[in-house]
This record gives sequence, structure tokens and C-alpha cells, in this order.
Amino acid sequence: MDSGFASVDAVLDTLASHGYLADRGLATSVFLAASLRRPLLLEGEAGVGKTELAKVVAQARGAELIRLQCYEGIDASQALYEWNYTRQLLHLRTAEATGTASAEDADSLEDALFDERFLIRRPLLAAIDHRADVAPVLLIDEVDRADDEFEAFLLEALSDYTVTVPELGEFRAETPPFVIITSNRTRDVHDALKRRALYHWVEHPDFEREVEIITRKTPQVDESLARQVASATSQFREMGMYKPPGIAETLDWASALHLLSETSLTEDGVDATLGTLLKYREDQERARRAGLESVIQIALGA
Ligand SMILES: Nc1ncnc2c1ncn2[C@@H]1O[C@H](COP(=O)(O)OP(=O)(O)O)[C@@H](O)[C@H]1O
Ligand SMILES: [Mg+2]
Repeated sequence: MDSGFASVDAVLDTLASHGYLADRGLATSVFLAASLRRPLLLEGEAGVGKTELAKVVAQARGAELIRLQCYEGIDASQALYEWNYTRQLLHLRTAEATGTASAEDADSLEDALFDERFLIRRPLLAAIDHRADVAPVLLIDEVDRADDEFEAFLLEALSDYTVTVPELGEFRAETPPFVIITSNRTRDVHDALKRRALYHWVEHPDFEREVEIITRKTPQVDESLARQVASATSQFREMGMYKPPGIAETLDWASALHLLSETSLTEDGVDATLGTLLKYREDQERARRAGLESVIQIALGA
């Protein structure tokens, strides 16, 4: 079976052709995870491109993206499967109404209720019991939001890619999905999950890459403004912000400046648009206290 990518360079090129500019370290992790068929655990601050990577990897492989969004209180049934109770009930009523219920014995009627057509496949089962030629990409997003118990359950599911539905039997992946797990690191992910997976810490992009992302994704913005935006953003990220700006914020900021016909950073322009970049009052105050003008001075030379 084709594991997907010929080389690290091929990963870099394919992702770039789908609008995602990865650094070499991240591309290497993707290449290795795909080749070794291991899950890839991506950790990093919000907005560094973890979720987007999974989406683009799916596009690049021509694979379906199946997303399991984690949240506080998520449990196994929300990840695996549920029975469609309403449809089961309707089936029963119909059997009663048409008289088939009395003709059939209770056991076979019950069997009919636990038929695959009443099974709602949640992301894990869908990714394991896929019928596509290309194995899907399973994105387990923001695993740090789920609790320990759920993580242990995930680990089990990912160790053998089988799911047992008591009424139906075992589902097993013929070709396992490419699993990408992300964490914003609001808590530590367990060692056991880390041992299963390859691990990569995703950094904010460096200056040149961020300039490239801006010019690529907001082509209406001139390169000189893109350079200033990237420089100022990276300076803000160094200020110990409560929520350092991610790439989406940088792109919003560049678009906002362009919309206001700002061709270069000025104190008024930055002040007026700061809300696209910094989303906490405390962070905005921190930026203003540090002095927008000095940030702009450095940015103009970038
Ligand atoms: N390497 C990249 N190349 C191009 N665009 C990127 C890149 N990383 C992030 N982005 C952009 O930034 C946005 C936010 O990224 P996202 O994947 O949601 O961050 P995270 O999941 O780490 O919080 C994406 O929608 C995408 O537009
Ligand atoms: Mg995300």
C-alpha cells in the first residue's frame, strides 16, 4: 500500500501546492508518521497551524478528513457509535402497524433493531470502518480538552484499530487511517499516548515563512506591508501576551490594514486595527505600554 509521500521534499511541495507552508521539521514528522504508519501528535499554541495541517494532508492525499473534535465531557459513545433510537422505535412501530411484529418472534424483531442501518457511526468507527481506497485522515482535535479517561479509551482504539459493537461484532481497519492528534497543551497529554505517536512541537512560523504565508493567502497585500506585519506580529509574540497572535490573526490584520488603504504601518493605523491581532484588553494594553511606535520602527526596517 502506498504510504502517501515519496520524501520530505515531496511533503513540503505537496503541502505548499495546497496553500500550507510547513517548515522542514514539521514536514519530516509528517513524512515519518505516514511512512511508519504511526499517529502524529502535534502540540503547540493556538493558531500555529495544527488543525490546518491535518486538513491539508487529507487534501494532499486525496483522502477523506474525519474529524473528532474533543471537548470537556466527551465520552466513548460520542467518538465511536450510537444507535439511532428514533429510527429503531419507528421500525418497531411500523412492524406493529403492519402486523409483521406478531408474525415474527421477539428475537428476530430485536435482531432487526440492531442492524447496521440503525448504527450512527461517529468519527472513530467511521475512520476504522472506512470503505475508501485511500485511508482517511483522522483528526483528533484538541485532545487536551478531553479528560484522562477518554484519552485512555483513545489509546486503546488506536492500538489495534478495531472497534467492537456487541450487537454486530468487530470492525477492523484494513488500512488504518492516518491519525493526526492535536493539543493546545492546556494540560499534558499522557506518556502512553505520546509513546504510541510521533511527536512534533509546532512553533509560530519564523519571519520569512510568515511573510510567505501572508503574501500567499492575502495576495492583495503588498510584500512590503506583509514584511512589516510579520515583523510587528513576531515582536508582539515576544511580549508575554496572554494570547499571542496566531497565523489567522496575522492574516486578518494584514487584510484589515489593506482594507483601510494602509500601505505601511503607522501608529494610528496599528492602533485602529489592533483588535484583529490581539483579542484581550490586557494584551492590547501591554502592546501599547511597550510602545507601538518602537514596534513600528523595527517593523519598517524589516
Ligand atoms: N503553515 C501554514 N501555511 C499557511 N497557512 C497557515 C499555516 N499555518 C496556519 N495557517 C493559517 O492559520 C489558520 C489557523 O491555523 P489553525 O490550524 O487553526 O491553528 P491551530 O489548530 O494550531 O490552532 C489556518 O486556518 C490557516 O489559514
Ligand atoms: Mg486547531
